[in-house]
Amino acid sequence: MTDAVPLMLAPGFFQDPEAVYAVLREEGPVRKVVFPNGWEAWVVTRYDEARAALADPRLLKDLRVLDQLGRPDSVPVQLGDESLFAEALHHHMLNLDPPDHTRLRRLVNKVFTSRRVEALRPRIEEITEELLDAIAVRGANGGPVDLIDSFAFPLPMTVICELLGVPFEDREDFRAWSAVAVVDDPGEEEARTSSYAMVAYFSQLIAAKRANAGEDLLSALVQARDDKDQLDDNELIGMAFLLLLAGYETTVNLIGNGVFALLRNPDQFDRLRAEPSLVDGAVEEFLRYDGPLNVATSRFTSEPVRVGDVEIPRGEFVLVSLASANHDERRFPEAGRLDVTRRGGGHLGFGHGIHYCVGAPLARLEGEVAFRRILDRFPKLSLAVEPGEVRWREGSTFRGVEHLPVRLF
Ligand code: HEM
Repeated sequence: MTDAVPLMLAPGFFQDPEAVYAVLREEGPVRKVVFPNGWEAWVVTRYDEARAALADPRLLKDLRVLDQLGRPDSVPVQLGDESLFAEALHHHMLNLDPPDHTRLRRLVNKVFTSRRVEALRPRIEEITEELLDAIAVRGANGGPVDLIDSFAFPLPMTVICELLGVPFEDREDFRAWSAVAVVDDPGEEEARTSSYAMVAYFSQLIAAKRANAGEDLLSALVQARDDKDQLDDNELIGMAFLLLLAGYETTVNLIGNGVFALLRNPDQFDRLRAEPSLVDGAVEEFLRYDGPLNVATSRFTSEPVRVGDVEIPRGEFVLVSLASANHDERRFPEAGRLDVTRRGGGHLGFGHGIHYCVGAPLARLEGEVAFRRILDRFPKLSLAVEPGEVRWREGSTFRGVEHLPVRLF
């Protein structure tokens, strides 16, 4: 039995998680870790084992099954403590196993195929252009502009709001509520208040769609609920929550982390600018090199599962570190180097197996348009602060910078 090692205890962890992962990877493919608040889980750090774990049918998501097995005392809140977060927010497909997962996923699979998503390209280009026009005015005097607040956040937020039929005016409310839901250790009161606010918000929105259906995805899901009985009320709220949250919290980091990576690697910036046909592949490299997620993928063992020479007992949590797997030298030579010409793919940035990101075609398209247009319009883009002054958000779910101050000209 391996002793648990501390993870995320060091204050600097989120500023450079790879420093810790590199050590863990060398020790073995999986390690029992303890979080600052005492919670314990197994973290899978090597590529092959991570990929296998993501597709392993013995690793489950639905915590109601875990409760039947006997839930361990130490369960991280963000892994789903319903006493803190409204139950409805949990009934989404990322927290469920087949057959419920299969049923819910089928409802949205068609919406996000590459072909359907490609139809959104003109609108995504239009939103991108409008946002870049606005920052070009603000940055015209050479002063710094925060690329997160002014571009990386509003682009995916606008796109997912339009797709779902969520009023864009409500974005700041939602951003504030979800900020509570994604930190590691939210205050109990705060977590409860914001999650109930979200449930109330979605309930009202669903009632509005019911009274007055639009062409949007949420209206279609309300119809699937009312006419075809394909999901229940909690699942409907959970689906709306998941799609909205996953639709922007991740893509904002694809753009933010990718631009930050390019600005720290000017040769790669120049290469990409000179050869825009490399952008599609570069987006994959940004997902690998510094993707939007940290150890966000939680599962638990429904029976003992062997990873490498370790047997993880039944009923324990397993987190797959996509960030670590994507830096495994066994799979990616010179993994620590950003290389926009890198080919071969296979990164785990969108996960793997049945929960593979349903929004991947949309995220890729948004990323492609965003990088193409930024490089074209702002060839002299530069950081307005020292790289070390850019702070990474503290949280084990998402990996992204709080602000990215840049000069455009
Ligand atoms: C699932 C990453 C964008 C919706 C996932 C998973 C990953 C991921 C790793 C699987 C998690 C696991 O196995 O535990 C990303 C990244 C994105 C992105 C890196 C951006 C670059 C999006 C967008 C949407 C979306 C734009 C929505 C439109 C979802 C949904 C799931 C999911 C609904 C759950 C799928 C399921 O359980 O079957 N995403 N995602 N994602 N993602 Fe994304």
